[in-house]
Amino acid sequence: MKKIFFVCLMAIGAVSYAQKLVYLDESKDIEERVEDALKRMTLAEKIDVIHAQSKFSSAGVKRLGMPDFWTDDGPHGVRPDVLWDEWEQAGQSNDSCVAFPALTCLAATWQPAFSYMYGYALGEEALYRGKSMILGPGINIYRTPLGGRNFEYMGEDPYLTSRMVVPYVQGLQSVGVASCVKHYCLNNDEEYRHQVNVIVSDRALHEIYLPGFEAAIKEGKAWGIMGAYNLYKNEHNCHNQYTLNKILKQDWGFDGVVVSDWGGAHDLDQAVKNGLDMEFGTWTNGLSEGASNAYDMYYLSKQYQKAIVEGKYTTKELDEKVRRVLRTFFRTTMNKQKPYGFLCSEQHYQTARMVAHEGIVLLQNEGNVLPILPELHPEGMKILVVGENAIKMMTVGGGSSSLKAQHEISPLQGLKMRIEASDFPSKGRVSLDYARGYVGDTSGNYNGVTTGQDLKDDRSPEALIAEAVEKAKTADYVIIFGGLNKSNYQDCEGHDRKTMDLPYNQDKLITSIAVVNKNTVYVNISGNAVSMPWRKQVPAIVQGWFLGSESGIALADVLLGRNNPSGHLPFTWYESLDQCGAHSFGEAAFPGIWREGKKIIDEEYKEGIYVGYRWTDKQKLKPAFAFGHGLSYTTFKISNLRATLNDTTDGNMTFKVDITNTGNCLGSDVVQLYITDVKCSVDRPVKELKAFKKVMLKPGETQTVTLTTDKRALSFWDEQTNDWKAEPGEFIAQVGDASDKLTCKVKFRLVEY
Ligand code: GLC
Repeated sequence: MKKIFFVCLMAIGAVSYAQKLVYLDESKDIEERVEDALKRMTLAEKIDVIHAQSKFSSAGVKRLGMPDFWTDDGPHGVRPDVLWDEWEQAGQSNDSCVAFPALTCLAATWQPAFSYMYGYALGEEALYRGKSMILGPGINIYRTPLGGRNFEYMGEDPYLTSRMVVPYVQGLQSVGVASCVKHYCLNNDEEYRHQVNVIVSDRALHEIYLPGFEAAIKEGKAWGIMGAYNLYKNEHNCHNQYTLNKILKQDWGFDGVVVSDWGGAHDLDQAVKNGLDMEFGTWTNGLSEGASNAYDMYYLSKQYQKAIVEGKYTTKELDEKVRRVLRTFFRTTMNKQKPYGFLCSEQHYQTARMVAHEGIVLLQNEGNVLPILPELHPEGMKILVVGENAIKMMTVGGGSSSLKAQHEISPLQGLKMRIEASDFPSKGRVSLDYARGYVGDTSGNYNGVTTGQDLKDDRSPEALIAEAVEKAKTADYVIIFGGLNKSNYQDCEGHDRKTMDLPYNQDKLITSIAVVNKNTVYVNISGNAVSMPWRKQVPAIVQGWFLGSESGIALADVLLGRNNPSGHLPFTWYESLDQCGAHSFGEAAFPGIWREGKKIIDEEYKEGIYVGYRWTDKQKLKPAFAFGHGLSYTTFKISNLRATLNDTTDGNMTFKVDITNTGNCLGSDVVQLYITDVKCSVDRPVKELKAFKKVMLKPGETQTVTLTTDKRALSFWDEQTNDWKAEPGEFIAQVGDASDKLTCKVKFRLVEY
C-alpha cells in the first residue's frame, strides 16, 4: 500500500512539476505557454502587468519568475536612464550610447539593408542596457515641412517608409528586443498633438498614412506599437475602436502589445474595450501631476481592478491584454536565446557612419564646386567654416529622442580631424578658419543631459555677419553649416515650426557670404526642408540631416571627396509652404479649427491622398528639389526599360532597366520606379513610387536592375468595398533616379481573365 501511495505522490509531483514547466518551457508553443501562465496569474498580477510602475517600466510576475519589463526611447539611440519616477537623469556612468543618424537620414539612404543593420545595432545597445522594448521606430508621414518630429520619421512616401521600416523592426527584434512602432496613427504634427482630432478620407488613411504601419506589422512582425496622442473619429488613438480593434488587430492580425503614448489614455471604458494593452505615462494624468502612488491611479490599474471586482467588467478584455503582454514577455524578457548586448562597439559606430555617409544628399553642385580637393591646390588653400551648426551638438534635445552620446563629432571637428590626419593628401597645406556667423540656440541641456558647450556670444547679428564676410573674402572655399536645431519650434517634439524660413537671420548671412566668395557651400543641418530664397546664388548645397555621433566625419568625407554622396530626398523640398497640400486649404487643414471650449481641434486633411510629390504633380508645381532627388560626384544614365510582360492578369510585373556610370568615379544611384494608372474610376496621383533599388557602379560600368511590382502596386483603396482594388486597363511604369528625372517609360495592361 505504502509503495502505491509513494508512486502516486511521485506521479502527482512529476505532473505538477512538468505542468510548472509549460510556461517556462521554450520548447513549447508560445500560445501554450501563454495560456499556462495566464491561468496561474491572480487578478492583481494581471492588473500589474498592463500598466507602468515607473517612468519606463512595467511589472513582471515575480511569483512566476517573470522579471519586470523595461522600455526606453528612442528611435535612433538608447536614451540615458532617468530616475524611477522623475524625468531627471539617474546619473548612471554606463548609459552613454552611440547616437545613430535620425531616421530621415536612414530613409534618405534608400538602403533597406542598412535599416536591418541599424535595428540590429540599436538592439544590441538596448540589450546591454537591459531594455526589452525600444520605443521606436517613428514612421509618421511627413505631411507638412513644419512638423516638429519629422526628423524622427521616414519622409512623405508610404512605399519608401514601408520598405525602410520592415528591416529595422526585423533587425531590432532579431536580438530579442521588441520594437514599438510609433505613433499609430495620424500624428503628423505636434503643436496640439493631445487635442487634435484628425479628419481624413479612408483613401488617404489607407493609401498614405497606414502603409508603413501595415508593413511593420504584417511583414516586420512588430511585437509592439504605440498609440498616438491625437484623436481619430473622436477617439484618442491610444484606445481607438477603429484603428486598434478593427484595422490593427482584426484586419492586420497584430498579436503584440498596444502601448499608450505617455499619458495618452483618457477614459477607463475606452481603455478597457478599445484595444489598449499597456498604459504608460508618468504621473496620475500621465504627464504632469504627481502622487506617491500615481501608477495605482492609472485607468488600467486599481480602478480597472475595482470595476472587475464590482462586476462592471468580466476578465474577458483583461485576459486578452495579458495574453499580449505574456507573448511579449516570452519574446523578450523570458527569451533565453537572446545574445549579449554591446554598447558603443566599433561595429555600432561603423553602422552610424555608413548610414550617415549614404544618407547625406547632394542637392546642388553648380560648377562642381564640390568635392573640395586640396590636392588640386598645391599652393595650399584656406577653408572658412561658418555657422553655429558647425559646432553645436545636436544629439541633446529635440524631445524624447534626446540622447547622452558617448561622443558627437561636430562638422568643424570632423573637417579638422580629416585635414590633420596623417593620410590627408595635402597635409599641412590646408588652413581651416571659423566664424560663428549667427547665434541660435545656446542652451545645451535636455532632461538633465548637458552638452557641456558654452555657445554664448554677445556680438550683434551685424557684427557676426561682418566677421564672416570679411574672412570669406580671402578664403578659397566657404562652408556654411546652418539650418535648424533641436530647440522648441524647430526640429523638436511638442511644437511645430511657425515658418519654413531659416531662423536666426541665416538668409542674410548666406547671401552676404555668397556675394564675396564664389566657392560658397551651404550645408543644411535639419530633419525638415527649409526655404532657400538664395538658392541660385549659392553653387553647392548639401542636406546634412541630424547624423548623430559620427556627424562631422561623415560630412567631412563627403565635402572633401573621400565619400561620394548618394542620399536621395525622402520628401519634397518645397520652395515655400504655398507648394504644400496641407497648407493649401486654410486653417481647417492645418493646424485645424478649435471646437467650442477649446478642448478639441479638428484638423481636416483636405488634400487627401495628394501629399508631397503627389500634390506638386497634381498642381503642376516645381519644387526646389523633388522627392527622390540626389546628386553624385559622378553621373549616371538610366535607359532601356523593358517589361517582361505586356499584359498581366495577376498584377505581378517584372521590369528590367540598364544603369551606367557615365562619370569618372565610383558612385551609387537609386533607380526608382513610379506607376501611373492611365484611366481609373477614381482620381489618382499622376504617379506613385512602387519600387526602387540602390546600385553602386564603377566608372563606365553598366548594370541591369530588375524591379518587380505586384497587384497592390496598381491598386487604390476602394471606399465602396473598403478594400484594395486594381481596375483593369492601361498602366505606365516610369523609371529614373528622381521623381522629376524619369528617363524611360513602358506601358502595360492589367487584363481581366
Ligand atoms: C513622448 C513621445 C513618445 C515617447 C514617449 C516616452 O511623449 O510622444 O514618442 O516614446 O513619450 O518618452
